[in-house]
Amino acid sequence: MVTTSGPDGSPEVGYDPMRQFAELAGDVRDPYPMFAGIRADTPVLQVHIGSGGRAGLDQKAPRMPSIFTVTSYELAQQVLTDNERFSSAGYANTIGQVMGRSILQMDPPEHLRHRALVARAFRARALDQWSDAIIGATISELIDAFALEGHADLVPQLTFPFPVRVIARILGLPEADWPRFLQLSTELIAVMRNWDRAVAAGQELRGYFAEIIADRRRHSRDDLVSQLIEAEVDGHRLGDEEIYPFLLLLLPAGAETTYRSSSNLLFGLLCQPDVLDAVRADRNLVPQAIEEALRWETPALTVARTARQDTELGGVPIPAGGLVAVSLGAANRDPGRYPDPDAFDIFREDKQHVSFGDGAHKCLGMHLARLEMRVLLTAVLDRLPGLRLDPAADDPHIHGLLFRSPPNLPVRFDPA
Ligand code: HEM
Repeated sequence: MVTTSGPDGSPEVGYDPMRQFAELAGDVRDPYPMFAGIRADTPVLQVHIGSGGRAGLDQKAPRMPSIFTVTSYELAQQVLTDNERFSSAGYANTIGQVMGRSILQMDPPEHLRHRALVARAFRARALDQWSDAIIGATISELIDAFALEGHADLVPQLTFPFPVRVIARILGLPEADWPRFLQLSTELIAVMRNWDRAVAAGQELRGYFAEIIADRRRHSRDDLVSQLIEAEVDGHRLGDEEIYPFLLLLLPAGAETTYRSSSNLLFGLLCQPDVLDAVRADRNLVPQAIEEALRWETPALTVARTARQDTELGGVPIPAGGLVAVSLGAANRDPGRYPDPDAFDIFREDKQHVSFGDGAHKCLGMHLARLEMRVLLTAVLDRLPGLRLDPAADDPHIHGLLFRSPPNLPVRFDPA
């Protein structure tokens, strides 16, 4: 059982997950003109990171001497789908320090073996088991809490708590543990902001999961932890040392990204009331609204790779060991691929994007993320008639350079 700091089991006094998240996102309103400028200049930008580039980062966070940033769609795909030239092992020095050796930092063939074991639970078909009982129930209880009010801030009241609660339920964690689980998850995610706190949170979560795993080994249940324990491919099963990092990864990989993507979807629609009305009237438009929101404002802007050998990208030489930052945000707005790339246009023809990455590490949770976004948007359309941005809202906007989403979504609607 997780120990709680507050007398009532609530997160410790003064702790504000929303503020941490907002700070982590950074206050950059629109990085896209900068990406466009870089892309027009060079397909791959080499940047030396001096101390000025570390503003806001914990001094214990690892230093990176030189970064090669990829901004075109074509080169982004090239890097993500080429495990021979580009390795994911570099994550060992960043997020791997707090969560251990997770699937994210593995290269083939280890990656393939591991992925086969964990992938089963996340296949589109397998998600039916969670659809109504977990995802639908979670969204209903969150909306119930404010549906009569006629106003809400949809970030703290809906999009932020939604995916963490879904993950807590999918893992089968007791509800009494959720506040502490949420607090530790937030601290873990803020690893580049507060290194020591993230390491401590990782250790505490690991201790917590150790008890859950031990319990499920004794009594199997209908939850993800039991499924991971029982998964078997070619006679191989996951040991506890492999299950911990996977469970820890689900928080940053699954909770933070989905909260941001749902917020971006709502923001895009709220800023274009005629499109919101069109989607409300024709629910067949929901999937394309989701894909376009993912392309337009990807929640996590960058993924990292390391060159395994001396190589080149778009004519730019990259030395072995060079860190390659693939800008998913820039790739998704490449004018060479998308006409009018900065527009949120749910009717555009090409809706493919790289927000879930590509190649061997392509997001394992993408079907779950899409399902969560679909359930959330459908519930919002069904239960909050007349939904609109609050006219008194103080400057609603999306911000962030590492992660992007609106810090707040103050809305009004006709009370149920
Ligand atoms: C809109 C929401 C999401 C976005 C934008 C997103 C994005 C990504 C991206 C870009 C990667 C690739 C990282 C890389 O190549 O280095 C990834 C991997 C991953 N994601 Fe997601 N993700 C989302 C939701 C989820 C959810 C809901 C889960 C599970 C609960 C999840 C679990 C994972 C895992 C386990 C990996 C690692 C896969 C591997 O290394 O083979 N993600 N995600």
